[in-house]
Amino acid sequence: MESQPDVAVIVVAAGSGTRLGAGIPKAFVHLAGWPMLAHTLTRVFGIAEPVQVVVVAPPEYDESARELLGLAAGQSEALVAVVAGGDTRQQSVQNGLAALSPSVGTVLVHDAARALTPSSQFDRVIAEVRASGDGVIPGLPVADTVKRVTVDVVQETVDRSHLTAVQTPQGFPRAILERAYAEAGHEATDDAGLVSAIGHPVRVIAGDELAFKITTAWDLNRAALLFGTDRDVLDTRVGIGVDVHAFSDDPADELWLAGLLWPGERGLAGHSDGDAVSHAICDAILSAAGRGDIGSVFGTDDPRFAGAHGDVFLRATADHIGQNDPDGAGWRVKHVSVQVIGNRPRLSARRHEAVATLTRALGAPVSVSATTTDGLGFTGRGEGVMAIATAVLVPVAGGRPRLPALD
Ligand code: CTP
Ligand code: MG
Repeated sequence: MESQPDVAVIVVAAGSGTRLGAGIPKAFVHLAGWPMLAHTLTRVFGIAEPVQVVVVAPPEYDESARELLGLAAGQSEALVAVVAGGDTRQQSVQNGLAALSPSVGTVLVHDAARALTPSSQFDRVIAEVRASGDGVIPGLPVADTVKRVTVDVVQETVDRSHLTAVQTPQGFPRAILERAYAEAGHEATDDAGLVSAIGHPVRVIAGDELAFKITTAWDLNRAALLFGTDRDVLDTRVGIGVDVHAFSDDPADELWLAGLLWPGERGLAGHSDGDAVSHAICDAILSAAGRGDIGSVFGTDDPRFAGAHGDVFLRATADHIGQNDPDGAGWRVKHVSVQVIGNRPRLSARRHEAVATLTRALGAPVSVSATTTDGLGFTGRGEGVMAIATAVLVPVAGGRPRLPALD
């Protein structure tokens, strides 16, 4: 069953972005790996109640807009539409108004270029339109001193205590906004300007710094910085890996653990060298990348790995997730932490050596710690060694991240 929302959000995304100068329409310029419009829509779908979403896009971007709308809507059964924009913002809004569904009584108009506007700002505008019946616009106090000038000559200082810098979404009772557009006698830079022109009150609520409009390249950089200087923050994945090996009965077996040979210690049983530490790390990495586990990826009967030491598995795992393919769509290990559980060998004396060996093999920082189990269980009885690892992965440079969220 389709919902019957009271609120519609018209997202105007049909501008060409001349001041940004990216060569494509601004709403489709990438920010932190996704078109600006994707960020905007993610936040629109964060509105607390079901809404109709109308995207006004350049006609040649109709399909991209539909794709992004579908992605952002996810499982929600929201009413959505994409319509073609016009030559001016005003014309674009007008085209959006024509697509409103009958149940809609409250309309919000939002610039796609305000890509980081938090969902809460939409919720607050909706609540204030309902409470007041007026037009509602978010605004921020003007911080700079403002002067009126003629070319480059100052005429006067404007009293900034009476000024507010206006953002979107701007919200209105539907009938009021439709009348304002029907009677519009001039081009206005915002919707509230047209509503004021028909004599209907418009009130200001507190805006949000994150709702700034991305107009120039500088604004786009600022938005990118808010996501972190690289995309790592957005797309971090975490994996866990556990491995256990029993001590071997054959006194001739050497002990290899954490990529090191431990002379004089009892060896571990296993198809390879039984290095539970390296294997747990591999499993943690594969699990974070969603690529199964060491058994399914490398196979216990693969002759390349018979008797292989931990470093071989670590290198193969890093390759498998695409860490060494800088232009690929794979993952890079950002950090690994591994804990060894067992009575022997005593890790502490060679901990730094283990860290250096594992870090070198993996090409990413590994931290190593160790503990015993107070005499309990198979590790306490000295029957074997266990290792537990966590891995943090981020996409390699060419990787395509998921839809991010700032708020
Ligand atoms: N907009 C629109 N249709 C137009 C012009 C603008 O839908 N004909 C939208 C833009 O996509 C943007 C919002 O209105 O989301 C605010 O406009 P602005 O920031 O001026 O964007 P552009 O017009 O694209 O940029 P510029 O003025 O630098 O060309
Ligand atoms: Mg413009």
